[in-house]
Amino acid sequence: MKISLIVNGKPAVVDADDAQMPLLYALRDNLGLHGPRFGCGLGQCGACTVHVDGKAARSCVLPLASVAGKKIVTLEGLGTPAKPHPLQKALIDEQAVQCGYCINGMIMQAAALLQTNKKPSEQEIKAALAENLCRCGTHVRIVRAVKRASLAV
Ligand code: FES
Ligand code: FES
Repeated sequence: MKISLIVNGKPAVVDADDAQMPLLYALRDNLGLHGPRFGCGLGQCGACTVHVDGKAARSCVLPLASVAGKKIVTLEGLGTPAKPHPLQKALIDEQAVQCGYCINGMIMQAAALLQTNKKPSEQEIKAALAENLCRCGTHVRIVRAVKRASLAV
């Protein structure tokens, strides 16, 4: 069955045997977008976060059929190496990345926050990222980077 989506501003069609397969699989395996990561596969770590119609969502637990026709933005749609999103630049400036596994989720969750709250307080940033897990323990630098990015936009 073919499911149509808008991915990073362009129409995309996923040919899937099972329309209940997670959106994450379609993005990574069918569309070759490797920004979203497979962490827990249970909606608990945030590594797979994307935006669906402007809101942060965990793509590992979203059936493909449930997002038919919706606008999906992945990390690839936020910025490029030549033109990074302010959050990407701030994470580099703060040297906030260790292994990097959680960073897709941190960026996508923080980007959703900045869309609704352009100048969040440290507490608001911590609350927004509370459900995004980082096994390297670089949370303090990530929060600092989100604050820095908020001052740049
Ligand atoms: S991989 Fe989706 S929340 Fe962990
Ligand atoms: S930087 Fe390694 S999990 Fe966060």
